[in-house]
Amino acid sequence: MKTVCESWFHPQVFVFMSVFMFVFMFSYQYPGFQGLLQDNDTLRLGLDFQRMLRINHMLYIAARFEHNTDSRRQLSNLTWRSKDVSKCTVRGKNSDECYNYVKVLVPRNDETLFACGTNAFNPTCRNYKMTTLEQVGEEVVGQARCPFESGQSNVGLFAGGDFYSATMTDFLASDAVIYRSLGEGRPVLRTVKYDSKWLREPHFLHAIDYGNYVYFFLSEIAVEYTALGKVVFSRVARVCKNDNGGSPRVLDRYWTSFLKARLNCSVPGDSFFYFDVLQSLTNVLQINQRPAVVGVFTTQANSIPGSAVCAFYMDDIEKVFNGKFKEQRTSDSSWTPVPDEQVPRPR
Ligand SMILES: *[C@@H]1O[C@H](CO)[C@@H](O)[C@H](O)[C@H]1NC(C)=O
Ligand SMILES: *[C@@H]1O[C@H](CO)[C@@H](O)[C@H](O)[C@H]1NC(C)=O
Ligand SMILES: *[C@@H]1O[C@H](CO)[C@@H](O)[C@H](O)[C@H]1NC(C)=O
Repeated sequence: MKTVCESWFHPQVFVFMSVFMFVFMFSYQYPGFQGLLQDNDTLRLGLDFQRMLRINHMLYIAARFEHNTDSRRQLSNLTWRSKDVSKCTVRGKNSDECYNYVKVLVPRNDETLFACGTNAFNPTCRNYKMTTLEQVGEEVVGQARCPFESGQSNVGLFAGGDFYSATMTDFLASDAVIYRSLGEGRPVLRTVKYDSKWLREPHFLHAIDYGNYVYFFLSEIAVEYTALGKVVFSRVARVCKNDNGGSPRVLDRYWTSFLKARLNCSVPGDSFFYFDVLQSLTNVLQINQRPAVVGVFTTQANSIPGSAVCAFYMDDIEKVFNGKFKEQRTSDSSWTPVPDEQVPRPR
């Protein structure tokens, strides 16, 4: 039986393009490319181009494509179609999701790319040779490494042979996780399940490997301001790369080094005006000869629209993780500062 997911006109195509970077005046000689121009949902949701990755002079693009667009000089491509389409339609979900949306596309080492796709609600990962786009080894399960739906946020990177990911781990998107896996020597670790003290309805924006840590940038519902209803705050969270997890008595198979802090992007005055919703963030750059990240922030969705650019020095971020510490004494009390001498060690 032919299902909508197998339709010839909307194939899920995983296209890698190798586009050499030439000066702008020559660019007209090279193919332009486009997503599914006829498909309003794709345009609206921005699903046609899912991931881009530049390594040296090569640009890798994961996208859902039409077959009959421009000529394809300079491009090489491979197609990774979902085989799980029938199961997907049985679940009765939005058939636009019965494709393979590539949500992870990162270098694993100097020769290998690591890619994961939603694969019609059955997230799956593969390794590819960077030069030839040949698949290397077997597929691996994508759960906790890649979301189930194209619209869910996720970030991922390799550091020291381990894959660090932040995503939703289930079909219903109820379990958000910051997860480490695929390493040789280190245990698999995650954040505690269904615990809003760790993460509450997060939207993951970026991850950075820096020094001894991996940093995650996200926005989430603030647990410390419940009285005001659902307010979104932006955070930087951090885990140690050498974290080996807790003991069978406490935090077994969980991070023991997880900390997070609010990103304060505000305009001073008699009262501060906050841009609390992180939308995008750079990698580490140098500003005044100091490593820093730059983010674009907006106001709350139901507030007066406004946006701001804020930069944060990495050493200031590190200072914050050694600075003031808040706790919640009982599960329904408010979050209060802990006196310096009572801050737990390790935090
Ligand atoms: C997409 O949107 C345009 C303009 O809003 C409309 O004319 C067109 O019919 C829509 N196409 C589909 C397939 O819904
Ligand atoms: C992908 O590459 C193959 C072989 O090089 C080519 O026949 C095919 O048309 C290409 N497909 C797309 C979508 O570019
Ligand atoms: C945000 O930063 C400003 C300027 O440093 C500071 O005065 C203000 O108290 C900070 N807000 C919060 C919530 O920490």
